[in-house]
Amino acid sequence: MKLSATILALAIYVSLATAQSQEWGQCGGIGWAGSTTCVSGTVCTVINAYYSQCLPARPSSECTGPTSTASIPPAPTGSNSNALARAAGKLYFGTATDNSELSDAAYVAILSDDSYFGQLTPANSMKWDATEPEQGVFTFSGGDQIVSQAKAHSQIMRGHNCVWYNQLPSWVSNGGFTSAQLTSIIQNHCSTLVSHYKGEIITHAFETEPFNDDGTWRSDVFYNTLGTSYVDIALQAARAADPGAKIYINDYNIEMTGAKATSMLNLIKDLKSRGIPVDGVGLQCHFIVGEVPTSLQSIMQQFTALGVEVAITELDIRMTLPASTALLAQQETDYKNVISACKAVSGCVGVTVWDYTDKYSWVPSTFSGQGEACPWDANLQKKPAYSGITAAWA
Ligand code: XIL
Repeated sequence: MKLSATILALAIYVSLATAQSQEWGQCGGIGWAGSTTCVSGTVCTVINAYYSQCLPARPSSECTGPTSTASIPPAPTGSNSNALARAAGKLYFGTATDNSELSDAAYVAILSDDSYFGQLTPANSMKWDATEPEQGVFTFSGGDQIVSQAKAHSQIMRGHNCVWYNQLPSWVSNGGFTSAQLTSIIQNHCSTLVSHYKGEIITHAFETEPFNDDGTWRSDVFYNTLGTSYVDIALQAARAADPGAKIYINDYNIEMTGAKATSMLNLIKDLKSRGIPVDGVGLQCHFIVGEVPTSLQSIMQQFTALGVEVAITELDIRMTLPASTALLAQQETDYKNVISACKAVSGCVGVTVWDYTDKYSWVPSTFSGQGEACPWDANLQKKPAYSGITAAWA
């Protein structure tokens, strides 16, 4: 009796391990011992670190949703922010960082702890002004340093960014290029950048901030020269350069119901209907204490319903200084609510804070009189906000 039960269990195990998974069946993920191949007409697609699923294949012209070739590191254990994010089924809890910060040993000690951070984004060193300051002259030393930092500590990388109206060298913005010339400039920039990091980066934010707050297209050199086609050009160049990396479009003020979010939803629908590659939408989430949008979760669901994933890519929650106990307590609640929204949406793959410490936040120099936006204070001590993050993931 016992023997036949064992044989039966073995037979089930062997058939699970060898048969191809059916459409909608599981085909991978941490702890999965069954088949990792899918029946014909379906493609094994990573949903999160714990679950890959056989989804119906799409025509190759759609070019959507590749499995990233950058590997997902083992999940750390314990009760710190990234360990809890992984236990909640997300790919990472991460942070932005910058090259000048890497000489601060106390800062780097926390940054390097993968139980806190499983992912890094370079705050500046992969932007156009840093990577192609003169036409055709590429420098990747800054970005490479961040990639090395991440790899040394089992952290995944998100690239940032390929086309943006800000931090754009004047040779691009004031070059007076024809549409044919600018097309080839975008293609060369995105392709060289993304190829340089091929296989190292899980996701490229190809383009940030295409819209004005009223949902109209932002007037910049790309839009003014090429109309909306610059989006297609950049996305296609990025996909061709590293088919294994996901490509995102990021923006701010798309975290709440309104004209700007509607424009982004329409853009994603349009790109998908025309087979232009896009895998995700990055919600930046530069918020103000007490003003976290209540529609954050439902907006994320509206994006994922279109067949893209979402990520919170630049979270910080600023306050008018000086900080008070009440403001810091509200900030704790706010961080908790943001993380909870991502946790609740299965297509939200992770959360990145826009640097983990007030010591290096971009906020005070950008928003006059405001600051204290990060979960660690300027002395690298955890604030109540950090407890909000861990409480939400747990
Ligand atoms: C910021 C950096 O953090 C600063 O160091 C830099 O001076 C300006 O840019 N949205 C984005 C980020 O997409 O790239 C910006 O980063 C913050 C706003």
